[in-house]
Amino acid sequence: MSSEPHSAEWFGEQRDYWWNRDFLQLMAARWQLSAAGSLADIGCGLGHWSRLLYPLLRPGARLVGVDREPRWIAEAPVLFRRVFPEVPPDLISFQTGAATQLPLQDNTFDVVTCQTLLMHLPDPVAGLREMLRILRPGGLLVCVEPNNFWNYVACTSLTEAESVETLVRRFEFWLRQHRGRLAVGRGNHSLGDLLPGYFAELGLSDIRVYQNDRPAPLFPPYASSDQKALLQQERQWEACATGPWDKPDMRQLWLKGGGVEANFESAFDDIHGKYRAEQKALKEGSLHASGGSINYLVSARKP
Ligand SMILES: C[S@@+](CC[C@H](N)C(=O)[O-])C[C@H]1O[C@@H](n2cnc3c(N)ncnc32)[C@H](O)[C@@H]1O
Repeated sequence: MSSEPHSAEWFGEQRDYWWNRDFLQLMAARWQLSAAGSLADIGCGLGHWSRLLYPLLRPGARLVGVDREPRWIAEAPVLFRRVFPEVPPDLISFQTGAATQLPLQDNTFDVVTCQTLLMHLPDPVAGLREMLRILRPGGLLVCVEPNNFWNYVACTSLTEAESVETLVRRFEFWLRQHRGRLAVGRGNHSLGDLLPGYFAELGLSDIRVYQNDRPAPLFPPYASSDQKALLQQERQWEACATGPWDKPDMRQLWLKGGGVEANFESAFDDIHGKYRAEQKALKEGSLHASGGSINYLVSARKP
């Protein structure tokens, strides 16, 4: 496992392209964000999500970001100030804290939100309960969480030429990684599929489920800013011997997910081979794909 702070490998420039602004404006209208005077962003990281939502709130709104990683909490205010130099400093704070034990008072915020946080928690419902504790009655809870499984099995221009057997084995590989993560308490990377049910179990009202309108497509000549940012991330991964994969960690997850030891090497060789083939096709300018990226936005009101 990496010694970098949590999620460091995902905090590149490509994260700035996750959302279409006009889509967020539509969501803000549906959620009536312009009436909200306070927002807490839990698991805020570098504040990508906070920075997108802040201008959609009532002018003069208060923002609090919480994350367990001190490095993100040190850097987030600097990035925020760069984008919103005019916002009075006392309206904005970023604090270290655990999602299941927030350093914030009960019934305080008009909006409590997170983006790709609950998927990392061993007990996401405990995280939801804590978010609800700090939300005022009638306030809005918004959780953005993915189905990441699909990112690994979505079609590309290369998969068309592969056998059904290869694709099924790859499906098994990712399913065992998914089950292994769950087994060792590293969260559910497809938690978005389950969130509406959790909201219902928690007794929330006005539950709504949407999907982001922004996948991560790649098609030649990869010339748009978002595609260039994706390629930049690919180049960083390419510098590692096993690409983006941590082989010992994957072996452990494979076994915890019920995989047979004797089959791991060939299963890993397959996904590594696929990765290298994609890199080659990218260099040749032939890879294309719509890019998966299923991200749900699940919202509800606290009764
Ligand atoms: C994938 S990042 C998302 C960051 C940010 N919400 C965004 O979308 O850019 C997950 C974040 O959750 C934080 N995190 C993970 N587990 C946490 C926990 N138990 N309590 C608080 N923060 C946590 C990580 O440090 C990381 O910044």
